Amino acid sequence: MAEEKTLTLAEQIDTQIRTTGPMSLATYMGLCLSHPRHGYYTQGRPIGAAGDFITAPEISQMFGELVGFFIVNLWQQMGEPKSFTLLELGPGRGTLMQDALRAASKADGFENALHLQLFESNALLKGEQEKRLGNYSPYWASELDAVSEDPIFVIANEFFDALPIRQFVKTDDGWHERLVGLTEGQRAFGLSPTPIADSAAPPEVHGAYAGEVLEIGTAGVDAMQSLARKVALQGGAILAIDYGYPVTQTGETLQAVKSHAFAEPLEAPGEADISAHVNFGVLGEAAKASGLAVAPLANQGEWLLRIGLGQRAKALATANPAEAANIVRAIERLTSPEQMGTLFKVLCAHSPGLRPAGF
Ligand SMILES: C[S@@+](CC[C@H](N)C(=O)[O-])C[C@H]1O[C@@H](n2cnc3c(N)ncnc32)[C@H](O)[C@@H]1O
Repeated sequence: MAEEKTLTLAEQIDTQIRTTGPMSLATYMGLCLSHPRHGYYTQGRPIGAAGDFITAPEISQMFGELVGFFIVNLWQQMGEPKSFTLLELGPGRGTLMQDALRAASKADGFENALHLQLFESNALLKGEQEKRLGNYSPYWASELDAVSEDPIFVIANEFFDALPIRQFVKTDDGWHERLVGLTEGQRAFGLSPTPIADSAAPPEVHGAYAGEVLEIGTAGVDAMQSLARKVALQGGAILAIDYGYPVTQTGETLQAVKSHAFAEPLEAPGEADISAHVNFGVLGEAAKASGLAVAPLANQGEWLLRIGLGQRAKALATANPAEAANIVRAIERLTSPEQMGTLFKVLCAHSPGLRPAGF
């Protein structure tokens, strides 16, 4: 009996384009990242030396520990509620949360009050999260707003950059959406024939020159809005750390990364990480519109130093002098402007009245 041939993701995308015409970049990204069988974030192990990229919590335990202290401080400011939810979006290998909870559990009553929730699409990563966080009895939420009724703290490190974006290119007659189509059988970018008037674009980019690119991350704004509404009702905070920019601007940031090197986004759907820089301006506005206060956006390097990276490094190096050189290297990677220090930003949206540390 002949085996049924399953189409690769590339073949499925090409067939869809041939059948229904070119697709938006957001649709293409959504398929590449979240296709139920072949999506980059539904299969595979993307993070770590053997994967495609390294993230801050994988560089040093200090990153997660400081996030843990940060959350304890907010929990104390709220009067140490006897029950609260700690929700992590895209927890990766579970490293950040493992380090955060090891540090935070030192605060009396914190662990007893904790309900840990994780939002994750990748089955293999869920397995890794279970391995590292099983002791805290985590619950994997299938919807972002399916969290319980008590105060909520949300942590998202490199989550928002992985959500689909749309791109628009300015021409003499307005903004045209960039689409993924086929040219002589090969996937290629093209432009939608119908323009959007300059006046309908965000005011920050009115008067842009022909050729400039505008990126719109609707999925990120939707996610922020639904979380912020919950946090505004129930009390708490949202901490989002990612590479990004402070206000709406033009510029193309779409990138694909495979095996720690840049790749071509249209070349191998589902096999490379595709991401875009996060527009923290619109995320902050969405949180404010939902009733939260938003701390001034901070650079990762400055924020980590302000919440105690230096002191934590000293304590670790004193306890384990053989690690001192590695600790210095980790601080450099996390804070220096040439590395993650200024490209990565920290957004905290919180209940009015709380004073998040480090901003
Ligand atoms: C770049 S990794 C960051 C992992 C981790 N936060 C860290 O810092 O190491 C993105 C994470 O978000 C998850 N993710 C991406 N898109 C998602 C989606 N649409 N729904 C749920 N999880 C998603 C990935 O599987 C992964 O755990």
